[in-house]
Amino acid sequence: MFVPPPKGFLRRAATTRSPQTGIFSSGAEVPGVRRDHLLEMAPSLKTVGTVIGVLSAASSVIALTNGVGKLPVMGYNAWNAFACNVNETLIVQTAQYMKEYGLLDVGYNHVNLDDCWAMKNRTSTGEVVSDTTRFPSMNNLTDQLHALGFYAGIYSDSGWFTCAGYPGSFMHEEQDALTFQSWGFDFLKYDNCAIPFDDVIREGMVGKYQRMSDALAIVAEKTGTTFVFSLCQWGWSQVWLWGASLSHSWRIDGDIGPYWTSIASIINSASFITQATNYYGRNDLDMLEIGNGNFTYDEAKTHFTTWALVKAPLLIGTNLASLTSEMLSILKNTEIIAINQDPVYGTSISPFRWGINADWTYNATFPAQYWSGPSENGTVIMLINTLDEPADMFFNLTESPWIRAGRQYAVRDLWTHTNNGTAVRNFTAVGVAPHGVAALLLQDAGNEPAGIMPPCAGEALSQCTAENGTSYANS
Ligand code: GAL
Repeated sequence: MFVPPPKGFLRRAATTRSPQTGIFSSGAEVPGVRRDHLLEMAPSLKTVGTVIGVLSAASSVIALTNGVGKLPVMGYNAWNAFACNVNETLIVQTAQYMKEYGLLDVGYNHVNLDDCWAMKNRTSTGEVVSDTTRFPSMNNLTDQLHALGFYAGIYSDSGWFTCAGYPGSFMHEEQDALTFQSWGFDFLKYDNCAIPFDDVIREGMVGKYQRMSDALAIVAEKTGTTFVFSLCQWGWSQVWLWGASLSHSWRIDGDIGPYWTSIASIINSASFITQATNYYGRNDLDMLEIGNGNFTYDEAKTHFTTWALVKAPLLIGTNLASLTSEMLSILKNTEIIAINQDPVYGTSISPFRWGINADWTYNATFPAQYWSGPSENGTVIMLINTLDEPADMFFNLTESPWIRAGRQYAVRDLWTHTNNGTAVRNFTAVGVAPHGVAALLLQDAGNEPAGIMPPCAGEALSQCTAENGTSYANS
């Protein structure tokens, strides 16, 4: 259950994060500190003042309730398209494309680095250093990103080394977090490679990630900069059970690939743990592959729809210089984005029926097909055709817990952007494309017509009873 944070925290969460409005201007403040963070941190500092400086479990509370990360992060990460072949020019050009293509305008306001930005060795005092050729000045990079209107994200690892062999932050957590802050970053993705021996770390997975969560809390206390903290440990150790206590998102699976079988497999993983997602903490299904590989238009739509409606982070991961207008239009579907960024409901959609498989069947090729959830503007329905041929997809409205019995619903199609009539009792999406999706918003349109038989629908039918006791069970 979502417990609202203390009042002051909601200040920025309720507003759009807008780097353009002076948030990043330094003035008399520490460079990179966002003024709104200073406001928001005030209550939390009072609460935890006595434990600051001690890396204890209790201090993690500040990292969690630091007021950022209420909604899924939207933005860009270069890893899926460029892996280690990144440099300042490419990142700034990418940010320019994001702006030019209108992606910033629809909410993609982060530009995040991934692996390979560092020199292989720390300095004699243990400082991590950015690659002198490819990233000669991180402050210069983040200044440019901020000036364009973006937040800036960086990457590190909870072990000795990153997955590409650069310095990890183990035993340097606070030092690195302060470095990242001083460079102007405010988002940290934190990976899981090069895990220290048990007799060194003497902590499990949770403890290893707790160390950086605590360090970020200390950085917030010292500087006012509140990081969005993104765990990347591939869904190990049932992270969906504890990730929310020390971060804002957690990867639930291994690395995504630019092909349908990967998308289907991640959807299958997500289908069993949707309850873990809410405001301030969410399942991360990995960065988007839209624009990469050989997705059909329908597969790309399904990928985007699922990621958005389960309220996962939406990080574009393709070479924007060669993005087709078709793929761009998918990324810019504002009706889908609005559900991802819903200010009233933070929960994920969930399957109400698996479809071709029995409910709760684990099947990475044919995952759950019939999903629903509440939203600010109605009940969201997502239907995925996992087959290789077109399919009609039928559901009774009350299969979704978010539908009221005895009411009819106006059906809005979030991909064709049309109103498709009024559904009474059930709906069929006709001819859903192979690996395609239907995304519908069902809006209450008043009482259904009188006299419909049987008088109860769905599960209620087996208990359907008149006031005088006459049973209509299974009539
Ligand atoms: C993986 C991670 C990827 C990417 C890569 C960088 O562990 O899942 O998303 O960050 O490391 O080396």
